[in-house]
Amino acid sequence: MARVLITGGSSYLGQHLTPLAQNEHEVCYTYFNQDVLALPGGIQLDVRQETAVARLIATFRPQVIIHTVGSNRGTDVRGVIETGTRHVVQAAQATQARLIHISTDSIFNGRTDDPHPPPYDENAPPSPVNEYGRAKAAAEAIVRQHLNHVIIRTSLIYGRRVIDHGTAWMARALQAGQPVTLFSNQIRNPVWVHTLSLACLELINHPYTGTLNVAGEQILSRAEFSLKMLDYWGIQPRHTLTIGPSQNAAWPLDCRLKLNLARQLLRTPLPGVDEVLSPMSTR
Ligand SMILES: NC(=O)c1ccc[n+]([C@@H]2O[C@H](COP(=O)([O-])OP(=O)(O)OC[C@H]3O[C@@H](n4cnc5c(N)ncnc54)[C@H](OP(=O)(O)O)[C@@H]3O)[C@@H](O)[C@H]2O)c1
Repeated sequence: MARVLITGGSSYLGQHLTPLAQNEHEVCYTYFNQDVLALPGGIQLDVRQETAVARLIATFRPQVIIHTVGSNRGTDVRGVIETGTRHVVQAAQATQARLIHISTDSIFNGRTDDPHPPPYDENAPPSPVNEYGRAKAAAEAIVRQHLNHVIIRTSLIYGRRVIDHGTAWMARALQAGQPVTLFSNQIRNPVWVHTLSLACLELINHPYTGTLNVAGEQILSRAEFSLKMLDYWGIQPRHTLTIGPSQNAAWPLDCRLKLNLARQLLRTPLPGVDEVLSPMSTR
């Protein structure tokens, strides 16, 4: 049993990860606006407040910090991701905690004509094309200053019990009769929230340090993935739905992640979307 701090227990990932972590560890988790979990161990925290982060970590003295805060949602993406991560890293260094940091495939441009084209292994250099990608790449660089770290680069997160952010957005737009375009030229390996949570838990007591790609084995365009999710959640109507290539240079294209290292290091299986969503699934 370890003392584990989960930043962003109220995130989509954190809501699944935190109760699983509590089965095995002494857990403190943070929320910012709302404690949707309402479990023992929840504490309000703004990661941009240096003193508050330092105080929490000095008091709880986690052996491991799983830093999930830093998504592409909210009004201060750069401040939360960069400044917030700096504060967490400083506090991890001060208390010698192991830091598991959640990053993203959106640090890449996904261009096949790039000198470092996809699929990306753990040594691929970031090539971000938008503010979120730039902030997450900067956060990775900050995390690397702390020796005992794992940077998990992951892809679109989805679940079977709670609708993911992207599908929820599509559902709202479709039900309001608004146009929705599903992009056929953005390629991803979507990851089941349970897979990512198990990988985080496995890495708590794992000797590995460095960057690790953790995603699903099945490679899909965002359009293919979105249709599977719309079907799974039974979302209608779809008459305002179109499929086509994204022309927006601020969206990464083919962000496939190579998973050889995770297959080698982890016991956690990395099932693809069809396997996870199958009614016959035994997982
Ligand atoms: N979702 C994806 O498809 C995806 C894909 C690749 C990588 N990732 C990475 O996975 C991680 C989790 O993503 P997610 O989508 O699960 O996150 P999310 O649902 O958008 O949740 C964001 C979290 O950050 C917290 N937060 C916001 N501002 C904060 C602040 N100033 N101080 C402290 N906490 C703050 C929120 O707290 P409240 O809700 O309480 O306000 C919430 O817990 C992120 O690092 C993201 O980059 C996500």
